[in-house]
Amino acid sequence: MLAKIIFVITFFTVIVLPSSSQVSIIPEPVSLKQNEGTYDFKSTIVIGGEVTNVSVKKIAEWLKEKLSVTGLPVTIASANEKADINLSLNKAANATIGKEGYQLAASASNGVVITANEPAGLFYGVQTFIQLLPAAIESKSVAKNISWSVPAVEVTDYPRFGWRGLMFDISRHFFNKEQIKQYMNTMVKYKYNLLHLTLANDEGWRVEIKALPKLNSVGSWNVKRTGTFGTFIPPTDDEPRDYGGYLTHEDVRDLVQYAKDRFINILPEIDVPGHSLAAIASYPELVCTPGKYRVRSGEKIMEWPANAHFYGLIDNSLCPANEKVYEFLDKVFTEVAQLFPFEYIHMGGDETARNFWEKSDAIKALMKRENLKNLDEVQSYFVKRVEKIINSKGKKMIGWDEILDGGLAPNAAVMSWRGMKGGVQAAKMGHEVVMSPTTYAYLDYMQGDGMIEPPVYASLRLNKTYEFEPVPDGVDPKFIKGGQANLWTEQVYNMRHAEYMTWPRAFSIAETVWSPKEKKNWNKFVAKVEDHFKRFDYAQTKYAPSMYEPEFKFTKNDKNRITVEMKTEVPGISVHYTFDNSFPDNFYPAYSKPVEIPIDASTMKVVTYRGDKQMGRLIVFPIAEMKKRAGVKDKM
Ligand code: ACM
Repeated sequence: MLAKIIFVITFFTVIVLPSSSQVSIIPEPVSLKQNEGTYDFKSTIVIGGEVTNVSVKKIAEWLKEKLSVTGLPVTIASANEKADINLSLNKAANATIGKEGYQLAASASNGVVITANEPAGLFYGVQTFIQLLPAAIESKSVAKNISWSVPAVEVTDYPRFGWRGLMFDISRHFFNKEQIKQYMNTMVKYKYNLLHLTLANDEGWRVEIKALPKLNSVGSWNVKRTGTFGTFIPPTDDEPRDYGGYLTHEDVRDLVQYAKDRFINILPEIDVPGHSLAAIASYPELVCTPGKYRVRSGEKIMEWPANAHFYGLIDNSLCPANEKVYEFLDKVFTEVAQLFPFEYIHMGGDETARNFWEKSDAIKALMKRENLKNLDEVQSYFVKRVEKIINSKGKKMIGWDEILDGGLAPNAAVMSWRGMKGGVQAAKMGHEVVMSPTTYAYLDYMQGDGMIEPPVYASLRLNKTYEFEPVPDGVDPKFIKGGQANLWTEQVYNMRHAEYMTWPRAFSIAETVWSPKEKKNWNKFVAKVEDHFKRFDYAQTKYAPSMYEPEFKFTKNDKNRITVEMKTEVPGISVHYTFDNSFPDNFYPAYSKPVEIPIDASTMKVVTYRGDKQMGRLIVFPIAEMKKRAGVKDKM
C-alpha cells in the first residue's frame, strides 16, 4: 500500500507541471506532442522560410511586430539566412490539414518550423506559436527579464468547422473602427475567422449609405442615456440627439482589409423587417403605421409577456406591403454588397412585432392580392423578396431562424438562435446552417449570479457554453457550417465591458468550433483558461472572473425556512460565507453541504478562495432576495 502511495505521489510529481510551464493552447489542437527540451531565443530572432511570397511576408511582418515586445532585435530573413522561425507553404497540399490547418514543430536543434497548405494555416500556426511563448509576449510594451523560449512540441492542427464566428452588435451602442479592430485582434488569437457586425437596429444605423443620407444624418444618432437599458424615460423632443455614429465607406474598406490580413471575413447584418426603428425614423414612409418616429434611446418599445407573444408599443417594422421598402432595400444592399466582400449578407428577420401589421389596410390588401393566409406568410413574402434583392447583388442571404416561419426562401442559410431546432429543421430541408443558440452561445447573458453581474434577463455560465455541440444527432453535418457566439450590446456601453462579456466564454466557443469533439475536456480547459487570464492581464484585455463564483440555489424547506446550495464550476475552489454581516475569508468555514439560513440573518455574504488567494468577488444577498428566490412569502 505504502509503495502504491509513493508511486502515486512520485507519478504526479513528475507529470504535473506548474501552470506557468504547461502547454496551454486554446483552442485545443487536433494533436500535440510535447518533447524534452525547449528552443531558446537568445540575442536575436530571425523569421524566415518562404518570406519572398507576398502572403507569407505579411504574416512574417505581423509576427515581427508581435515579437517586438521581447526586446530582442527581430528581423525577416534574407535569402538563405538561417532562421529561428520558419514559415513555409507545402509544395503538394497535405489533405489532412486542409485550407486552414498547419503543422508546427519546435525543437532545440531546429527552432520553430510552421508549415501549411495556405497562408491562413500559417497564420493559425503562428497563433499557436505565440501561445507557446511566455505569457509576457502579450505585454503592451517591452517585457523585461523574460527568458524567451518555447517548449519542444509537434503539432498537427486544423479546424472542425469553417465558420467560427463572433457577433458584435455595434448598433445598440456604437463601437467605432478602432474598437472593432481591437475586438478582432483578440478573436484571431483564438482562431475565429468570422466577425458578424450588427449594423442596423432600433438604436442606430451604423454604416454609411450614400444613396440614403438620412440613415446617417438621422438614423445613426440617439440620446445618450446610462443605467439599465430598456427602462429609460422616453427622451423629450428637445434632448440632443448626438450619441452614436456610423462607419463610413472608407472605415468599412479599412476594416475589411484589416480583417482580410487576419483571415477574418466580416458578415454585415441589416436587421429587417423588425428592429427597424433607425430606418423608420430616417424615412417614415417605410412603416405601415403613419406617425412620428425617433431612433430608440433605450426606452421601452416592446412588451414581452411571460405567457403570450411579444408585441410592439410602437411600429418598428418595415411595411412589406409598400414597394418603397423594396426600393429602399435595393439601395441599401447595393452599397452593402459593394462594401463587404464576404459571400453572405445577413438580413436579420428576428423578433418582428407584427401587431401593427395586423391592423394595417395595406397588409390586408397584400394578403388578399398574394393569397397569404397569415402574418407568418406575410413575413415569408417579405423575406423571399429580400433574398431576390440580395442574390441580385451576387450575394447569398442568411437570416435568424424566424425566416423559416411561413416558408423559407429558396437559397437562404439559417442562423439558429432560438435553440437548435430551427437549425435542425433548415438542415433537414437541405439549407446551410450556422448554430448560435441562446442556450450555449449568447454572450450578452449574465455569466454568473445576478447579485454580482450587471443585470440581464438570462444567464449562461462558462461551463454551459462548453457543452455547445453544433451538430445535433440525426442531422447531416455537411449542412452545419459552424457555430457562433453573439454579443448583443443593449447593456454594453463600452469596450471594457464588451471584453468582459466575451471572455472567457469565447474561449469555450472557440474550442467547440475548432477542436475535435473528442478533444474537449472541461478540467483541462479550465486550467488553460486560467493560464490565458494571465495573458489577458498582460494584454490589458478584460475578462470576467465569474467562473470562480458559485451558482446558488435557494429552496424552501418543510419548516418554511430557506436552504441554500452553492456549486462551483472550477475545481479546487472553496466557498466561505457569513450570516453575521462580517466579511468572509478563508478563515471562515468552508461550505460543504446545503445550509439553512439562520432565522435572524439579514444578509448572506459569500466569497471563494483557492488556498489563501481570493478568487471570486464578494457576493452579498439581502434576506429579501433569498426569500424571493426560495418562494418564502411570510416570516421565516
Ligand atoms: C436575436 O437574438 N434576436 C437574434
